[in-house]
Order: sequence, then structure tokens, then C-alpha cells
Amino acid sequence: MNNILPTYPRSELTFTHGEGSYLYEKSGEKYLDFGTGIAVNSLGYSHPYLNQKLREQSEKLWHLSNVYQIPEQELLASRLCNLCFADYAFFCNSGTEAVEASIKIARRYFHKTKKSKVKKEIISFSGSFHGRTIGALAAQGPEKMETFNTAVNDFKFLEFGDHELLKSSINENTAAVIIEPIQGEGGVREVPTFCLEAIRKLCDENEVLLIFDEVQCGMGRTGKMFAYQWSNIEPDIMTIAKAIGNGFPIGACLTSKKVGDAMEFGSHGSTFGGNPLACSVGNAVLDLMTSPKFFSEVVTVSEKLLLDLNKVANDYPDIIEGIRGKGFILGLKCNINNEDFVKQARKNFILTVKASDNVVRLLPPINLSNSECDEAIDKIRSTCKELTS
Ligand SMILES: Cc1ncc(COP(=O)(O)O)c(C=O)c1O
Repeated sequence: MNNILPTYPRSELTFTHGEGSYLYEKSGEKYLDFGTGIAVNSLGYSHPYLNQKLREQSEKLWHLSNVYQIPEQELLASRLCNLCFADYAFFCNSGTEAVEASIKIARRYFHKTKKSKVKKEIISFSGSFHGRTIGALAAQGPEKMETFNTAVNDFKFLEFGDHELLKSSINENTAAVIIEPIQGEGGVREVPTFCLEAIRKLCDENEVLLIFDEVQCGMGRTGKMFAYQWSNIEPDIMTIAKAIGNGFPIGACLTSKKVGDAMEFGSHGSTFGGNPLACSVGNAVLDLMTSPKFFSEVVTVSEKLLLDLNKVANDYPDIIEGIRGKGFILGLKCNINNEDFVKQARKNFILTVKASDNVVRLLPPINLSNSECDEAIDKIRSTCKELTS
């Protein structure tokens, strides 16, 4: 008997090691990884600089309780805040914990500063994915909750893209709107910048907080540090995780001072969150992502990938209906079953990830080279050809 709780359907592949953009199977076969542990290993595998920084910190101190000063955490918080709208960072270990923190902070803000007991409803959208804890699940609609015989009050679930519905649904009970600037699991569905801006306006007019969930689309994946930075607006709270530690578990909830000041000692916490080892790796990731020309390279190579993918889609319209997304969070909207595509791509030694809406997600390392981009296109083209015949 396999003693792992059966929560994942697993392929038969067993990887023994990775290097750069490649994973190596126990058979010795080499796979180009366009899944990166679902947008986690954004700087590839066995990165020498990250390995060195991890080793250095591992020989000094792994874990320290948050009741002590943690300079590595302070540094990471100040660097993340300097890179975006935020003034405070709360560190945790996963995306779902970052989302839980965001819900708590939003509700507490109105409870404490506005003395409002009714302003606690969180609005979210169909197709969204915010994690698997009860609170994060509640933001994904009642259907998912029902399967656990659970209901959590004060969540409202709306159709993605229906601005008029959002407008009419916001009322005096609404505390926050939570949205992914680009839905990952939902099928790489981008919220156009004019929509993000319209949602911000609506929130401002109604004294509602705006939470961006950038757990998947953030940390450089779109060609800017955060996906919302392609627009002209800012959230009040933002959740990030996945790529911060390039595989070392770390998540964060970032807030403005206005909102974060509603939290006080004991209002939230984490045993492991923000420990020296995780934060040292996070700082090393930022060293690389903030190096000169890093993002111009991301944009150049991802634009080439998009152009080349569109050519493949044009040549194989029966297989690929169109390409979605931005930077290195791309989706192939399929005209065949997306799972069949993922399986066939694997036979061509490229790893991809399926998403809802019959989409195949491409989430390569964001430091992908031009030649790896060409290799991926060859493999995707072969996959389409094989699926056609
Ligand atoms: C947008 C988004 N939010 C939250 C989560 C949950 O993150 P985790 O699996 O680290 O709890 C995910 C995971 O895929 C995600 O894509």
C-alpha cells in the first residue's frame, strides 16, 4: 500500500535531480521543465548562487522564533516593500496561509479602525484559486465548501469579468475584493489593466479594500516584479509565495501601513514563517531578480516565446485555439483535451501543466534562454503534429 494520502494523481515520472531549466528522470531522460513545480522554481534548478546562499545560512542558523530579532527577515521585508506599494510584510510558509492572513487583516481593519462589525464580506470570482485552507477555500465558492460539509459566512462569489454584477454586489457589508491579476489554475485568464483600474475605483468609492493574490502570477513571472505593476493602480493587500524561495517554502502577505496598523501583537503569527533560512533564500532570489537587465531579458525571451507559440497555434488550429497570458505565465487554450496534450508533450520531453477551461499552462523558469525557448517550440510543434495525425 502507498501510504501517501491520495490527494494527487501522480504521473509515473520520478526525478532525481535538476539543473537550470531541466529535470532528470531516474531513467536518465532529460525533460525541459515548463511547469517549474507550478511557478515555483522560477530561477531553475541547482542555481549556483542560490545553493551557495542556502548552504551559507544553513551552517549558521535555520530556525528562530519570531519572538527574537531576525535581520534576514527584516531585510527581506524592507526589500519587498521597496519593490511595491506595501509598508509591511507578514511571512508564512505557503500561498494559502498568505491568503488567510489577507482575509484576517482586511476584516480586522474594519473591525478595529472603523468600529464596523458588519463590514466583513469578502468578494471573489469564479475560476479563482486561493488555496486549500478553509478560509481560502471559502473564497472559491460554495460548491467546493459543500464537499467538506462546511460553510463559511461572509463570502460572496461572483462571475469573473462581470463588472456590473460586482458594482451591484458591493454594499455596506463588503470589506474586500480578492482577485488574481492573472488567474493561474482558472486557465491563465488575465484581468485587463482597465478592469483592474475600474475595480480599484469601485473599491475606493465604497471604502472597500482590494486584495491582489499574486501567489502564482507575481515575483517576476510577467516580466515585472508584480503583475499588477503593468497597471496604474495598487492594491491595499497582496499575497505572494511560490517563487519567493525558488522552492524553499515561504509566503508573504504584504499590506499598506494604513491597513497593517490594524494588526497588533498576538493578532496573527506563524511558528516557521520568516525564519532565517527561508528569508536568506528569499533575499538571494531578490539579488538575482533585481540585477541589472534581469527583467528586460525576461520580457525579450517571453515575447519571443509568445510570438513563436502564436505561429504554432496558427499552423495547428485544430489543436490550439489561442494563446493567453503574459510573460512566462502562458496558456494554450486547446481544441483537444488538455490532458492529452500534457501527456503527449511529456513524450517529447517537455513538462507542462493543465489548468481549467481546457488550457495547458506554460510556466518555464523566467530566466529561460533563447535556445531553450527554441527547443520548447520544437517540442510543442512536434506535440501538435503527433496529435494531429
Ligand atoms: C493564486 C494562488 N493563490 C493561492 C495558492 C495556494 O498556494 P499554496 O499551494 O502554496 O498554499 C495558489 C496555488 O496554486 C495560487 O495559484
